[in-house]
Amino acid sequence: MGNSILLVYKSKTGFTKKYVDWIDEVISCQKVPFDQINNVDINNYGIIIYGAGMHAGRIQGLKEFKNKVLNLAGKKIVVFATGGAPYTEEIISTIKTDNFSANELNKISFFYFQSGINYDKMRFLDKTIMKTYNRILEFKNDKSDIEDGTNKAISRTYDHSSRENIKPMIDYLNKISN
Ligand SMILES: Cc1cc2nc3c(=O)[nH]c(=O)nc-3n(C[C@H](O)[C@H](O)[C@H](O)COP(=O)(O)O)c2cc1C
Repeated sequence: MGNSILLVYKSKTGFTKKYVDWIDEVISCQKVPFDQINNVDINNYGIIIYGAGMHAGRIQGLKEFKNKVLNLAGKKIVVFATGGAPYTEEIISTIKTDNFSANELNKISFFYFQSGINYDKMRFLDKTIMKTYNRILEFKNDKSDIEDGTNKAISRTYDHSSRENIKPMIDYLNKISN
């Protein structure tokens, strides 16, 4: 069972779950929502993946996931995040430094998949946060290009997720699971 894959995830508005299902279609793995992780025996898996959405620069639930798995010996740990921001070197390097220590990055492989924003599925509090943030940007003078782009991007529901995005992670998993 050395290299069986456990795919743990947290998904509030469905984007991460969509990526989880795409991954599950092309590799053999056991999927489990993070809040049900105690129902599986982690010892049976050599590779543990965690996927979740971005929330104000943070990968949701990552801390709890790290607490659960980081000091288990002999596991390969992979983390992916989904977010509305586009896939650029700058964004990915910011997500890495804001969410992992240098030491953690030696042990964890990280991937980022662009998703979108779904106001219909958002909880009330999140909707309020997004609307407030968007209003602040809207009325801000001298917006930077990034702020202007963010303001336009987060004002409505959109979905830029694509199956193609998972390819680098699948290639990596195929490499380490043999
Ligand atoms: C309150 C809030 C904050 C967000 N912050 C970010 C962010 O910092 N960076 C980003 O790329 N996307 C951000 N998003 C977009 C989500 O990360 C994106 O929709 C993600 O795919 C949600 O995953 P889920 O549907 O699986 O929960 C935010 C969304 C909400 C509601």
